[in-house]
Order: sequence, then C-alpha cells, then structure tokens
Amino acid sequence: MERIERYLSKRAEEGTLRTLRKLDERRPARVNENGRELIDFSSNDYLGLSNDARLIEAASIALSFWGVGSGASRLMSGSLAPHHELESAVAGFEGAEAALVFNSGYQANTSIIPALVGRGDVIFADRLSHASQIDGAMLSGAKLFRYEHICADSLLGFLEKERANYVEALVLTESVFSMDGDIAPLAEIVDLKERFGCAILLDEAHGAGAFGRGIAHKLGVSARVDIIMGTFSKAFGSFGAYVACSALMKDYFVNSARGFIYSTSLPASIICANIAALKIVANHPEMSDELQKSSTYFREQLRNQGWQVGGKSQIVPVIIGESQMSLDLAAKLNDAGIRALAIRPPTVPKGSARLRFSLCLAHSKEDIDYTLEVMDGLRQLMA
Ligand SMILES: Cc1ncc(COP(=O)(O)O)c(C=O)c1O
Repeated sequence: MERIERYLSKRAEEGTLRTLRKLDERRPARVNENGRELIDFSSNDYLGLSNDARLIEAASIALSFWGVGSGASRLMSGSLAPHHELESAVAGFEGAEAALVFNSGYQANTSIIPALVGRGDVIFADRLSHASQIDGAMLSGAKLFRYEHICADSLLGFLEKERANYVEALVLTESVFSMDGDIAPLAEIVDLKERFGCAILLDEAHGAGAFGRGIAHKLGVSARVDIIMGTFSKAFGSFGAYVACSALMKDYFVNSARGFIYSTSLPASIICANIAALKIVANHPEMSDELQKSSTYFREQLRNQGWQVGGKSQIVPVIIGESQMSLDLAAKLNDAGIRALAIRPPTVPKGSARLRFSLCLAHSKEDIDYTLEVMDGLRQLMA
C-alpha cells in the first residue's frame, strides 16, 4: 500500500540519518547513551579494529569494485576472489591445511556440528559452551553430554562411561569462555580426545586475535585440534567466521554444512576487511600482549579491592551472586559514566550473576584507573 510505503521510506531515511550521526560521534571504547558518552566495557572489539583505517580502506575499495551484495551462495556464483584469498590467509594464520569462511560464528557452529555427527553418535560439551555450539549439537540429533566447566576429569568420567556406546564422538569447547573469561585445559582435553577416538571442535571466538593466533597455538596443540573455529566479529573488528581444518574436511563441509550451502555468501567488502584484520593481527602480536597486560592489571587491582574476580583473559567477570545486586551495581557504574553489563541467569548459572568487563586495547590507563576508583567506591559502599 502506498501509505505504508511512504511511512516506511520516511522511517528508513530518519533511521539512516540517526545512524550516521551516531557514527560521527563514535570513538573507540566509548558508547553513546541518551546523549551521554560512557566508557564501554561491553564490546568485543578487543583490538579496536572495527574503526581501523586499514579495514575501512580495504572494505571501501572492495565496495566500489564488487558492489554491496555478493549476489548468491558460495556454491552458486557467490564465491568471489576475495573469499578464496581470505581462506588461504586463514589457513596460513592457523597453520592448517585449509579453511572455510562462514557468515557468522553462530552459523559456523550450527552448520558444522550437524555435518560431523548425527543419530547414533555422541557429543561431549563443556557445560558452559556457547549457545551456538549447543544449538548445533541439538540440531545434529547426536546424544549430548555436558561435562563440568573446564574440568578434564569430568570429561574423562563421561568418556569412560559413554564413549564406547556410540559410533562417532565429538568434543566441544571454547578456548576462552565468553562469560567467564577463563581458559579450557586444552592440552589435557586434546590428550583425552585422542585416547578415546573423538574429534574436537574448538571455538576460538574470544581467543583468536585477543591472544594473537589463539589459545591452541599458545599452548602448542593447534596441529592436534581437528577443527578450529574463529569469528571475525570480535577481536578482528568485523563480521563473519572461519573454520580451519584439513583439506578433506573442508571439502566435506562445502558439500554438507547446510549453513554454508544454503546462505548467500558474505559481501566482498566484509571479506576484504577480514583479510586486512588478519594481516594486522598476524603482524602485530604486541597488540594482544598489551591487551592481556592491561586485563591482568585490571583483574589484580579488583581482587586487591576485595571483589571476587574470575577469568584469565580480556574478559573480566566480577561475581556478585544476586541478580538484583548486579543490576544495581551496573546502574551505579552507568551513573558514573561506565558501561559494564550485568549478566544474569539463565545466561550464567544461578547464583552467579556478575558484572562483565571486556577490556579493549582502546581503553586508556586513565579509563582503567578511573573505573577501578569507581569500583573501589562501590566496594566500600557495600561493606
Ligand atoms: C563463544 C562464541 N562462539 C560463537 C559466537 C557467535 O559468533 P558470531 O557473533 O560471529 O555469530 C559467539 C558470539 O557471541 C561466541 O561468544
């Protein structure tokens, strides 16, 4: 109807203008809320690459060359030269034989897991594995067991009891856990998966980039991990995801991962931004070193103030316990110009509501010290 079309086009114009105004004002590690600028601890843009001039230039050039949309799925005509270039770059970055690009991390996990296992097979997943891994597991139809969070002994218990009852077996874990910021005991998990004849899918969404080439590399086990999945949406500052694996497995995914087959491929602009981001991360390990150094400083200072603080990464959870208390504290931080989100059940286990701080390279020492000062004040109020 004409009336509705007029209404929609007016809304669209206003929306675009509002977005542009916001972009104008956007600064790294800052977020605008009702005209106030807050220090932002809720972003996954860990290395500040979302606004990096090199990514913007790569995307802009690709945009003018290839246009806005890719036009089709990869298996139709949506496989452009940059997709192949990015896949070679990812394989090099991960030291893998091959790599395949997906449209998002969620899509990668929900496509690959059902391609790998099905009815009659079994999945052993860390209890706190990301929703996309669990959704992939449920879609697959395989039997799902969830072992205690980052507990290799718990995984061993399930393997001893259950592995022999199923045909194929897949272990699922994140490297750096998104809500807890802690790190999986990967070397032990890889030993176990080899001993019991399983494959492993490692989700490096919060590890790749934030820890250089990721946790599997850092721990020297990457060659023994069957499939490494990473997202471009976090430390790489962009969008999309990848899977690094053997050439044979890539070929298998191309022909069996439904999210890959039945979805339009990412546009060249995003793919070229991802190529630029990957180069920056590979050539500048000092960026992630710096990020982890300031995260350790922040975590230790909070512990000294008496907070219960978890994690070993750029994700710093301050465990509060009660949901309402975590909301109150988040509101007080907001009043002081700081955005850290209260994360509550069911996203985290009952009784473990928390403030989640994501540290980014763009946070200055002043930002961090100011936030510590505010947290110290809140601690004293609570005492
Ligand atoms: C551990 C983990 N895996 C996968 C995803 C999904 O990635 P994407 O945002 O690219 O879909 C996320 C994002 O929230 C995540 O935290």
